[in-house]
Amino acid sequence: MRTQVAIIGGGPSGLLLSQTLHRAGIDTVVLERRSKAHVLSRIRAGVLERGLVAQLEDAGLGARLQREGQPHDGTVLAHGEREIRIDFARHAAAHVTVYGQTEVTRDLYRAREAMDARLIFEVEDVVITGADGPSPEVSFQTAEGARTLACDYIAGCDGFHGVSRKTIPQTLRQDYEKVYPFGWLGVLSETPPVHDELIYATSALGFALCSMRNPTLSRYYIQCRLDDRPEAWSDDAFWDALRRRIPAAYAETLVTGPTIEKSIAPLRSFVTEPMQWGRLFLCGDAAHIVPPTGAKGLNTAASDVYYLSQALIGHYKDGDDAGLRGYSDRALARVWKAERFSWWMTRLLHRFPDQTAFDLKMQEAEVAFLSESEPAQAVLAENYVGLPY
Ligand code: APR
Ligand code: PHB
Repeated sequence: MRTQVAIIGGGPSGLLLSQTLHRAGIDTVVLERRSKAHVLSRIRAGVLERGLVAQLEDAGLGARLQREGQPHDGTVLAHGEREIRIDFARHAAAHVTVYGQTEVTRDLYRAREAMDARLIFEVEDVVITGADGPSPEVSFQTAEGARTLACDYIAGCDGFHGVSRKTIPQTLRQDYEKVYPFGWLGVLSETPPVHDELIYATSALGFALCSMRNPTLSRYYIQCRLDDRPEAWSDDAFWDALRRRIPAAYAETLVTGPTIEKSIAPLRSFVTEPMQWGRLFLCGDAAHIVPPTGAKGLNTAASDVYYLSQALIGHYKDGDDAGLRGYSDRALARVWKAERFSWWMTRLLHRFPDQTAFDLKMQEAEVAFLSESEPAQAVLAENYVGLPY
């Protein structure tokens, strides 16, 4: 087998890269470890920055997004009973779009299949060879046996647990990591959202987030202990804990119901440098992870895809390799700003086990300053709607 760009990973990064390159006349093959059904069963975040929306529209995926995506001009930060509305329209002249990542992935699969893309599912034993030479290859196993894919370039879009990052020799790589001492317990419920905008709430009992997928499907999270288990939480216990962490006005109007999904996600900040080695380029979770507090996971994967697709198009269309040479530096410049914002939102809104009385006073002062300072709110708005590519 041969292709121009071998893409390892059929999640949002790999699919968006494949779709963008295909529309530019560049051949790709996507290798995915799991089945398509498994990939589409994953519940992920649902806030799209304007840069990702523009990419999806340019890739021919704007129709359903326009129909079903919900524009949000602001969000609410709540500290106990104190509420601060961050006005994206006023401070950043922009909005975000609420549209589940699962739906983005579903739309990408539909578009890929409509273009007869080469997607190979349930691959095993993926091994990258020759990435630091002129003729890289990806070998893998399928039900039909051993296969080898020769290519010009490899995009490692295989997430945090993939093989791509680990293919770069550790002597050439620097990892940066911060693991947070808590997790998020999240539920989906077929109930109307408690508010028409997202509510990021913090209280003495910890963080809570009120989000949604559409007017009849809500997504809620509460901060939980790292050793907590979803099965230890009844629905009633979850709803009670949520009510006690959000302002009374919302707790009183919260519509509860049976949860249709309940899971716990750990929180981590992670970046590997560089994001390329020879003809191997890392995109998305393969290179970096953010705590979900700033809704930057998918959106930072999107800016990686933008930079890499532009670089590969420059190579194949104009013989210009400047983008490929500069990909890692350009992607990391934006990655680190997303890491900072996600870390800052997490530090501001969560209760840390080792927090001192002084630390708590610092959190209160930061929220108080945010509530009083238009420039401070503008900084949050600018980061939340998405920094420029
Ligand atoms: N070979 C082939 N595919 C692999 C391998 C492998 N060795 N290892 C992992 N994969 C696949 C996974 O099954 C997954 O479908 O790579 C894909 C990686 O997708 P994501 O983990 O979703 O990462 P990415 O596409 O970068 O999207 C980032 O997804 O996880 C969220 O919070 C994250 O919102 C962010 C977004
Ligand atoms: C979600 O809707 O799942 C969501 C929204 C915003 C976040 C994290 C998750 O910051």
